[in-house]
Amino acid sequence: MGTKGRSILEVDVNTVINELKKAYLDELMAFYSYWITAIVAEGFHGEELTEHFKQEAMEELGHAEKLANRILELGGDPVVHPKDWEAGANAPFTSPRADRTDAEGMVEDQIKAEAGAIEAYNRLAKLTFGKDPVTYHLATELLADEVRHEEFLENLLGKK
Ligand SMILES: [Fe+2]
Ligand SMILES: [Fe+2]
Repeated sequence: MGTKGRSILEVDVNTVINELKKAYLDELMAFYSYWITAIVAEGFHGEELTEHFKQEAMEELGHAEKLANRILELGGDPVVHPKDWEAGANAPFTSPRADRTDAEGMVEDQIKAEAGAIEAYNRLAKLTFGKDPVTYHLATELLADEVRHEEFLENLLGKK
């Protein structure tokens, strides 16, 4: 924990830590969701999807790492055990579709998850604007990434 770094917050530090902890779990599950979907996807479009989703998975893991570091900086403790991940997150786990050849459906499910992440980071940005510049910077950085992810996935489906 950084004592001075924590003391400059003009918003309740525990509120910020709780939001960061939920977002951290969203990101861990997003990482795993993209990764396992890339592994199990089948068929011609599944092959295409695999490369994209593996890349997305690593970006989400990078987000999780940044959030975990910010939680620690503020004196919080990120959730560790996998059995606690889903209950502590903002959103439920996005499972790969039972039909492993339904690449389009699996992209649609990830678009919904990205939309949820956009809402969560927008909320966090509003909460911290002018009150916790470091978290605000992180929230807007991740928000920009999720906006890009959503657009990329929509383009995959041919939506504009
Ligand atoms: Fe993310
Ligand atoms: Fe994302």
